[in-house]
Amino acid sequence: MGGGSAGEGWGNGKAAAVAYAREGAKVMVVDLNAEAAEQTSQIILSENEISSYTTANVTNSVDVQKVVSDTIKEFGQIDILHNNVGLPQMGSVTDISEENWQKAMDVNLKSVYLAMKYVIPHMKERKKGAIVNISSLAGIRVNAIMPGLINTPLIYNSISGQYDNVEEMVAARDASCSYWSHGNSMGYS
Ligand SMILES: NC(=O)c1ccc[n+]([C@@H]2O[C@H](COP(=O)([O-])OP(=O)(O)OC[C@H]3O[C@@H](n4cnc5c(N)ncnc54)[C@H](O)[C@@H]3O)[C@@H](O)[C@H]2O)c1
Repeated sequence: MGGGSAGEGWGNGKAAAVAYAREGAKVMVVDLNAEAAEQTSQIILSENEISSYTTANVTNSVDVQKVVSDTIKEFGQIDILHNNVGLPQMGSVTDISEENWQKAMDVNLKSVYLAMKYVIPHMKERKKGAIVNISSLAGIRVNAIMPGLINTPLIYNSISGQYDNVEEMVAARDASCSYWSHGNSMGYS
């Protein structure tokens, strides 16, 4: 979302869209500005990669729903949602007008909520997907790390009713690791 560029040259959305395509992704470029979206898409096509573009205001629920369903129709699936749209609004709480505060909330926050609201059900159904949300400079860095299945002391204290003993549980966990590493989805979400 926001895969055009706010002006001539390279903004982050355009750069990310082209970078995804260079890694083999089919990219639906979505932007409020049709010309900017088309430009990004054309760059991707000129590099013999696959892309399409569409316009949407990502603060509008109807637009976002449509873009999600059109993308699934065109490409069959959505593996990655990249939320790039953002807008700087300067000023502290006491300085900023209510109108500009609301605009910042809509463009910076509601857009991310809407895009995830309509993409996540599709990703859950497919049991896979990745979401990248670009924050503003005012954002706080938060990292989440999902470890794989590791035989640490912790797991021996939590044998579920599913297993009769530790050995059985460890064997099942190890088997699912090798199953997973061969590219099969275990259905974890
Ligand atoms: N440029 C910076 O210094 C900087 C610093 C920190 C964070 N960021 C964040 O990085 C992201 C990209 O910034 P950038 O400066 O590279 O801009 P960019 O060039 O990627 O432009 C953003 C794009 O979003 C589109 N857009 C704006 N409102 C939209 C809407 N309602 N619906 C659909 N599309 C819309 C614009 O048309 C534009 O093409 C933003 O979220 C920004 O807040 C930028």
